[in-house]
Amino acid sequence: MVNTTSTGHKSFSQIATYYSIIAAIGGFLFGYDTAVISGAIGFMRVRFDLHPGMLGWMVSSLIVGATIGAGFSGVLSDKFGRKKMLMLSAILFVIGSIGAAIPNSVSALIVARIVGGLGVGMASTLSPLYITEIAPARNRGRLVSIYQLAVVTGIFATYFINAAIAGYGNNVWDINYAWRWMLGFGVVPGAIYLLLLLLIPETPRWLMKQKQEVEALEVLERMNGKEAAKAELHEILNLKDDNGGAIRQLFRHPLRRPLIVGVVLAVLQQITGINAIMYYAPEIFKQTGAGTNAALSQTVLVGIVNFAFTLIALWLIDKLGRRALLLVGAVMMTVSLLVVGYGFHAANVSGTLILVFILIYVASFAVSFGPVVWVMISEIFPTRVRGRATAIASLCLWAADYVVSQTFPMLLEWIGTSATFWLFAVISLIAVIFCAKVVPETKGKSLEQIERYWEGQ
Ligand code: BGC
Repeated sequence: MVNTTSTGHKSFSQIATYYSIIAAIGGFLFGYDTAVISGAIGFMRVRFDLHPGMLGWMVSSLIVGATIGAGFSGVLSDKFGRKKMLMLSAILFVIGSIGAAIPNSVSALIVARIVGGLGVGMASTLSPLYITEIAPARNRGRLVSIYQLAVVTGIFATYFINAAIAGYGNNVWDINYAWRWMLGFGVVPGAIYLLLLLLIPETPRWLMKQKQEVEALEVLERMNGKEAAKAELHEILNLKDDNGGAIRQLFRHPLRRPLIVGVVLAVLQQITGINAIMYYAPEIFKQTGAGTNAALSQTVLVGIVNFAFTLIALWLIDKLGRRALLLVGAVMMTVSLLVVGYGFHAANVSGTLILVFILIYVASFAVSFGPVVWVMISEIFPTRVRGRATAIASLCLWAADYVVSQTFPMLLEWIGTSATFWLFAVISLIAVIFCAKVVPETKGKSLEQIERYWEGQ
């Protein structure tokens, strides 16, 4: 991926990779902020004497903020630019982290989590979108997947940061201070992100949309060399621009189909149950008979598998393509969820078997729906509506995340653990059918070619 041209200049890929890595740090903050609460919540419960309803709200307030942030990110980034709104998301992360570390009241904490959530939602939409708009077609999938790798790294990092902070003091200290350090530590990556964002340019496609041709050409040249920059600018220019960013248009041909694909993929990514595992893993492992320590080390195993298979996705996404990964992943998710459901259903199944199939499920998600959905919802929409349309898909993703994380504990009570996993299996099967019938391949196509493809549909 990274190479240097004969003239000694850094190649397009190399510079696009630097920019992508910087933008992708938003994913780290997303992963960190969504997962850090799992280690903090136990202490917060005791400190504030939280009843179950409040406990749930403390966890999900961030997701509510993220849903709102994702929703606004489109209009705001279409108007003010991708880079500026990424910077705003970093500022919100920092304010949310400081705000969560200081308070002595529950309501102030909730407000801080919602503010941090706004940043999470904005970054979750705009980091992949930024990368999409600067990446060369041939390795766009891989570069956007760096964002998913950052999400997974952020989730993984919290296991260790939480463990280190909780291990620092005794139980009284933990109840009074550990959770503050856990939530507040988000300031560090947030501030680093803000500073690094100063180094990246606005995307050439957004600049072109604002009719800032000279600036757009300058960015393209910096990444691409003079000749290739001209060709690319030409391709962007060639698309008819009816300047119609109106939301209404999204529901008509040719935008309706990509909107359906984006929204359904986004919702499927969540309702196939990944965050039931990500947010509740230790509890699930305890149900298989594991003790608290074993449950925690098994959760670390989930993090390792998630990371390793996201790396594999990075390597495969521009070779095999998005569709193939989605299809294979969804089939494997269906099978592994069926077995996990069976494991909880049958009396004499060992905890190890359930663990193995949960890991297979996580691996299948990590190689498919995890990265591919973020890649596709950022690339399937035309530039003139990309911000808004990606934001709608991302908003639906977060809303679906909210529904799953709120209802999972209830489902366990109402229909039992096995039926809950079978429900996720049925939804994964629907995902297989949807991907086979409706999702097109976008590997290797320029954003403009993808746009023309929908016009021909
Ligand atoms: C999803 C998150 C999830 C993560 C797990 C992301 O693609 O959007 O909701 O927690 O993957 O790795």
